[in-house]
Amino acid sequence: MFLMSMSMTTKLPGAKLKIRPDIRCYGSVDEQVEAAARLIAEHIQQHIDERGKCRLALAGGNTPRPVYQRLAQTDLAQTIDWTQVHIFWGDERCVPPEDAASNYRLASDALLAHVPLVTSQVHRIEVERGPESAARHYAHILGSEPLDVVLLGMGADGHTASLFPHSADLASGERVIAALSPVPPVQRVTISLRQINESREVYLLVSGADKAQRLAEVLRQIDSGTPVLPAARVQPRSGRLFWLCDAAAAQPHRRNDEGQTIQ
Ligand code: 6PG
Repeated sequence: MFLMSMSMTTKLPGAKLKIRPDIRCYGSVDEQVEAAARLIAEHIQQHIDERGKCRLALAGGNTPRPVYQRLAQTDLAQTIDWTQVHIFWGDERCVPPEDAASNYRLASDALLAHVPLVTSQVHRIEVERGPESAARHYAHILGSEPLDVVLLGMGADGHTASLFPHSADLASGERVIAALSPVPPVQRVTISLRQINESREVYLLVSGADKAQRLAEVLRQIDSGTPVLPAARVQPRSGRLFWLCDAAAAQPHRRNDEGQTIQ
């Protein structure tokens, strides 16, 4: 059951463009996963139809896993010309690629191993180079061409990718940064807000009651034009920003047609 779609207009400090995040809230995680996988599949193919390819950046964490698994299912996977998709990551933990904590491993097990991709299309963050060198190398791999579709999650502290609250990394002019996480694995490599906000389309996938308070705070910051938390500072200049949430995460925002909060 689709509960609510809300878009808000906010003005980037000093910028002309108004960001209109498209916030969609679904009655359950299953519905969120189904809707997210369908929307992302459709838009990946749209980019291929428009530009002949799609540069797709994947997220880590637990929330995107079922979305990857759904995307890998034949009925959806066959709607995408995978020969034209290039796979990147928004961030990586500095662990071996076969490690259970590896975002590369997560995406490989849930999606990449099940769709027709060749090695030259999969651009892993080579953390074995060491964080700083891996960040420089990945910035070179990414180049200056915008990413087409970027998938992100949000932590209960409002972090996204490996961009954490109060970190100097948030103001970085680099495309890729070696970052430190307050929770293990500590050493990370992450794309920057600059790289994210140059993307053509960004999806934030958020589910679970443990994220509700922070999501409310993030949406308030976006709405008031005073983005502080990393997730609130995800404001692609293209304006194509989707927040795909489940009811538990969007609890404070569930309103009926009269705008009253639904208890
Ligand atoms: C990572 C992610 C990170 C993640 C959030 C949410 O590597 O951990 O990139 O930003 O998206 O921590 O994680 P969950 O989806 O597991 O709640």
